[in-house]
Order: sequence, then structure tokens, then C-alpha cells
Amino acid sequence: MNAPFTPGMIKDLNVPDYVRNARLIAWVGDMAALCKPERVHWCDGSQNEYDRLCQQLVDAGTFKRLNPAKRPGSFLACSDPSDVARVEDRTFICSERQEDAGPTNNWTPPAEMRARLQPLFDGCMSGRTMYVIPFSMGPLGSPIAHMGVELTDSAYVAVNMKLMTRMGKGAIQALGENGEFVPCVHTVGAPLQAGEKDQTAWPCNPAVKYIVHYPETREIWSYGSGYGGNALLGKKCLALRIASSMGRAQGWLAEHMLILGVSSPEGKKYHVAAAFPSACGKTNFSMLVPPKGFEGWRVSTIGDDIAWIKPRADGRLYAINPEAGYFGVAPGTNLLTNPNCMASLHENVIFTNVALTDDGDVWWEGMEKDHGGQLPAHLIDWQGKDWTPADGQAGRKAAHPNARFTVAATNNPALDAAWDDPAGVPIDAFIFGGRRSTTVPLVTEARDWTEGVYMAATMGSETTAAAFGAQGVVRRDPFAMLPFCGYNMADYFGHWLKLGQRLADGGAQLPPIYCVNWFRKDAGGKFVWPGYGENMRVLKWIIDRIEGRAEGQQTIFGITPQYSEINWTGLAFTPEQFATVTSIDTAAWAQELHLHDELFAQLAQGLPAALTKTRAAMQQRMRE
Ligand code: GTP
Ligand code: SPV
Ligand code: MN
Repeated sequence: MNAPFTPGMIKDLNVPDYVRNARLIAWVGDMAALCKPERVHWCDGSQNEYDRLCQQLVDAGTFKRLNPAKRPGSFLACSDPSDVARVEDRTFICSERQEDAGPTNNWTPPAEMRARLQPLFDGCMSGRTMYVIPFSMGPLGSPIAHMGVELTDSAYVAVNMKLMTRMGKGAIQALGENGEFVPCVHTVGAPLQAGEKDQTAWPCNPAVKYIVHYPETREIWSYGSGYGGNALLGKKCLALRIASSMGRAQGWLAEHMLILGVSSPEGKKYHVAAAFPSACGKTNFSMLVPPKGFEGWRVSTIGDDIAWIKPRADGRLYAINPEAGYFGVAPGTNLLTNPNCMASLHENVIFTNVALTDDGDVWWEGMEKDHGGQLPAHLIDWQGKDWTPADGQAGRKAAHPNARFTVAATNNPALDAAWDDPAGVPIDAFIFGGRRSTTVPLVTEARDWTEGVYMAATMGSETTAAAFGAQGVVRRDPFAMLPFCGYNMADYFGHWLKLGQRLADGGAQLPPIYCVNWFRKDAGGKFVWPGYGENMRVLKWIIDRIEGRAEGQQTIFGITPQYSEINWTGLAFTPEQFATVTSIDTAAWAQELHLHDELFAQLAQGLPAALTKTRAAMQQRMRE
């Protein structure tokens, strides 16, 4: 049993005098009584505190300070090899009724889950500090923002939260005396005995992990992992799983989407929100540098991973990025693929699971492209072992494929002027894209909102290292939200359809919806589409469609560009190559439609009839 919260404990809770929220103080008291930390520290979010915690992590061996001449203010953390990505099979949506979690989420009745977690959390922080991390998802005080408070026994989490969110005293002040917050409890699940010291630089629980959400009471409990989305609870847990459930109740959307601004040489600005599954190019697309042939065009970043989208009285959808930093994939990032990202990483960065060079800098697979293909002669890999190019030849990676960087958005030279605007930006188009070696064409425009929802709902993608488990397996990843939807996926489709209907009924013109695939491969297994900055060519066609400047051509699945409608200046890409990335293989699509059917069968309960109708119309067109 959890010892009751007693007023006498307030002294040991170290509550700063600027904290006035009684519910918060009481909850921290309850959790301290349960988790039994050695001490409690309330994060104020100051630079001073950040520097102190980073130094403490250096002293504990969790952080290596990188060479200040090469990466000022930057650190490298290497995790336990068992704790390198999100654990989808340990992630739970504990709604009262199973049908509210739906068939795509792990579910346990809340009472049963609470009973299971109670003994695990009892004493889980012993010998450690409990950090109290108040944070705002969204600009401080914005009507669109929501507050959270994370309790954690990981200083690594505390410093990451400082870069990723608006964290500390400002958040507490915005919370005020009676403000609401989502309580988030996190522990690495490695309690220390009295006087015991950590035997490892990355404490975690290799055997037991739980990432638990209670959507009705809006609570998050995370046990056993210190990595990324498992531990930085403002991100996937709050801003996607809990927020999607709030959005459903309140009529808005929480999406796994980047938000970008794109301005034309004439100075006209558009805003696009795009959903790609984990490690499928959101960060890249949000920082895109237009290639040759697009002089005068500029792309700017509002967000790289999550969008909160709310309809306003003018009938348009406005999006904010609830985050304040990027937790991005390092491997594959270089000056050719993402120069803005490389520029963001010059200073004040936390790197996790990349390799260390002999001169105290970082390295990951793909960086050799910036050095004429030259690999470093020697590295310390992400597991602390010596690495030479011979190891690389033998298939041993120096950086973990899900190695990441954490960096404040303000480091990004392409940051949009409105990235912090509490009002958000109006969305002109939605893009959905999976990672598919075959079948799915480069770009297709849905003929209407319903067809767009169908495309997004049935999207497939090859799995990546962002989640623990097999890689490269095609699975359905509806709206790139499969791991992140906090309620029944069939209801989520319905929510998108209803929102569209409501706006259309009010006379609004809905943003067009596109489906893209940068990842088609040729017979030799190589990507045919050059991708990265060259994706601007597709983005420009989308803008031309919005402006009525491109006719496109009808296919059974929607509208695709004619070769002549793409600006090819500066890129040698033949009509034959174009055909390779846009062709529709009817046999493959017949197979694909079976996979849509399997998804719809799984989601049959509550599946909107509009989607099965769209499916039938497609079948009809295929026969014609
Ligand atoms: P999460 O942070 O996991 O949600 O991922 P993300 O969607 O932001 O992924 P990110 O932009 O970091 O991309 C990760 C991987 O996709 C890297 O290995 C990139 O090299 C690769 N990638 C991104 N854009 C492209 C592209 O246009 N073409 C190809 N072939 N690869 C790409
Ligand atoms: C993702 O997996 O989609 C991420 C990384 O953005 S994590 O925050 O670890 O979930
Ligand atoms: Mn993501």
C-alpha cells in the first residue's frame, strides 16, 4: 500500500515558492510516497540547471562531453543495448472498455493495469532523485497548448525535456493555481539499495517495460525504459496518444505530422502537413532545401514530428507544433540529404547511440558522403567498442540505426517565423507517405476528402528501426498513427471523416490530400527517385494543383502528374525513370487491395461505411 500523503512531507518535497497548484503538489506528494526517491528536484528549466544536470550526467558516465572545438555544448549518451527504441508490444491503451482502445492497441482493464503497476512503482526510485518536470506542449499560454508534468528518475530525460518542450518555471506559471495538466510518471525501473551505486551508465529494466496510457483519466505511466518515445512522455504519449483521444472528444486532430511552410518566388506562402511513419522522412522533408531549378523558393520548418490541428471559425484548419525541439534520426543525415539539419547540429546537441571519433566528435553511417566516401580509420561504436572500416564491411554499424539527436528548434536555420505562433498556421494540403519499395506511385492526389481519408487509412509502410522488432516488413500504418492512436482506429477514421463533413457543411474548402512514396526501388534494389531536396519537385506540383496550374491525369486511385508537369530543371530524370516510380501494376494493386480488406476486416466494428464504399468504387474502376 502506498503511504498516505501527509502535510509533513511537503518540506521534503522541496516545493519551490512559485508553485501554487495544490493538485500538482498533492500529486507529487502521492507519487513521492509511492516511488520513494531519495530526494525531489523541481526543474526550473534554467540554463544553469541544464548545465548542472549535464555535468552530473558526465560524472555518472552517462554523458561524454564532446570536443568543444568540434561540437560546443554537446554530449554523447550511449544506451543499454536492450533499450534502443520504442517498445510497441509493451505499449498499452487502458480505456475502460476494450472497444475504445480498438484492435490495433494493446489493452488491459485500467483497474488490472493499476494493480499490476502499483508494486512495480512502489520504491522504484529508491536511491535516485525524482525530477519534477512541468512542461507546455505548444507555446506557453496558447489556447491550443496543453500542459503536462513528468516525474522521472532520469536526469537524461530531464535535460532532453528541456530541449524538446517549453519546460520549467514558465510552464508552472502558465499552470497557475488551478490549471489542468496531464500527469506523467516515468521511471527507469532500476531502484538502488541504500548506498548502492549504479553499475551501468544507462540504468533501465531489461526485463520489464510498460508504456501505459489511461485515456479517460488522461494519465501516463512509463516503466523500465529510458529511451526516446518511451521516456520523453510529452512526445508520443501525451502529444499523440492522449492528445488524439482529447482531440476526438473536442473536435480537433493530433497527428504524426511535420508542418512546413513553402514560399514561392512571388512571395506566396503555403503550409503543408505531412504524415510519414517513423524514420520515413518527416524531419528531412520539413527542412528541405529546394534544388537547382527552384531559385526563389524557400521551405521553412514549423514542426518535424507532431501537429495539433484545430478548425477555426473561418473554416480553415490551423496547425501548431506542440514540441520545441527535434528528436531526430541521425544515420543517413548529411550535407547532401539534409544540410539544414546538419547546420542545426553544430552546437548544444545531445546525441544518443551514435559513434565517437578519436578527436571527440560524432559519426554515423551516411556521414562519409560529406568526406568523399572516406570512412574514419577508427571509431568507438555506440556500444563502446572499437570500430574500423573492416567492421563496417562485415556489416557492423558504428551508430545504432535508431541513433538520434536532441536539439532545440531554435538551432534550425530553416525555422519558420511562425513556428512559435500560438495561433498556428493554416493548412493548404495534407500529404501521407509510406516507405514502399513497390506498388505505390510517387504522388497521387485524392479526388475528395473521403478518398484521401481512404488513402491515409490504408497506407502501408516497411517497418524501420524506430521501433523494437523486425525491420523492412510491410504493415498497414494508417495515417502513420498505428503506434500512436490513443483510441479505436476505426473511430479515428470516422473522426477525420466527420471533421471534413462538418467543415464542408459550413461552406469551407477542405485542403486536398496527397499520397506520396519516395522509396520505390528498381530491380537492382536501388531507390529510383533521388528523394530529399528533389522532393521539392513533387511539392511544387502539389502547389500547381492547388493553383489550378496542373491538370494531372486520372488513374483508378486518383490524380497523378504528367511527366511534363514536373519541373525537371537541374535533374536528369527520364520519362522511363518517371514511369518506374509512377506506374501502376494492376496485379500488385489487386494484392494491395486484399491487404486493405484485411485491415478493414480487423477494424470492422465501427468502420465508417464511406470507406468500404470507396473500396468498392475502386474495385469497380479496376474492372472497367
Ligand atoms: P521519426 O522521428 O522516427 O518520426 O522519423 P522521421 O519521419 O522524421 O524520419 P527522418 O526524416 O529522420 O528520416 C529517417 C530516414 O529516412 C533516414 O535514413 C533518411 O535518410 C531517410 N529519408 C528521408 N527522406 C528520404 C527520401 O526522400 N528518400 C530516401 N530514399 N530516404 C529518405
Ligand atoms: C518515432 O518513432 O516516430 C519517433 C521517435 O519520432 S520516438 O520519440 O522515440 O518515438
Ligand atoms: Mn515520430
